[in-house]
Amino acid sequence: MIFDTHAHYDDEQFDTDREALLASFISAGIGNVVNVGASIDTSEKALELAHRYDFIYAAAGVHPSEVTELNEDSIRQIETMCDDDRCVAVGEIGLDYHWPEPEPDLQKKWFIRQLDIAREKKLPVIIHSRDAAADTMNIMKSEHAEEIGGVVHCFSYSKEIAAECVKMGFYIGIGGVLTFKNARKMREVVDQTPIEKLLLETDCPYLAPEPYRGKRNSSLYLPYVVKAMADIKGISEDEVIRITTDNAQRMYGLSEH
Ligand code: NI
Repeated sequence: MIFDTHAHYDDEQFDTDREALLASFISAGIGNVVNVGASIDTSEKALELAHRYDFIYAAAGVHPSEVTELNEDSIRQIETMCDDDRCVAVGEIGLDYHWPEPEPDLQKKWFIRQLDIAREKKLPVIIHSRDAAADTMNIMKSEHAEEIGGVVHCFSYSKEIAAECVKMGFYIGIGGVLTFKNARKMREVVDQTPIEKLLLETDCPYLAPEPYRGKRNSSLYLPYVVKAMADIKGISEDEVIRITTDNAQRMYGLSEH
């Protein structure tokens, strides 16, 4: 069964058919989903989904683009959510310099603060990093992220940076972009990274794989990513599914469940 390590089924794009869609997963070979929060509100919604569906787990955290909502009160809300036994990670947190706001210093401050929560709660982190490779690596090193562990999700950097992340014990999250024609860099990352360090993810409703690029994404399209990964690694699609699911259970601490 496929493990989708990063999805946003709380998104309004699923409002019309969420229940029917989620109900179709098991028979389509989708075994587990981690629904990832990006704000206080969506973290709460992620936990609601995780309580309603056995196969869904939640992550609680505030995305770098949303950190202006953070203060000590909302940090305490995240800490409380992390104590819920359906919460398996802190995320998504990190740095996103694609847009000028929020200013980098503010993003860094709350990235570090949320890494501290993960350390304290003994949960892995889901790191979102866009156009911010150097600062992300510097913070991961200075904050000893190797003691926390987790995934750099929707990985978009070079194979050299992937190797550094893997050296720190991190997993690399791979999604629909792998199937895009111009994804040479990403194919190099998958080729070079040991499969024991790769995770499957959708980031849905965003980043649908070919042939659905630009459409609403869902876990049902992950077989296209599996196929692309199997081709690069020269192994069967079943092997890709088995190993990446093991990886996800290990990272999220679900092996005993
Ligand atoms: Ni996401």
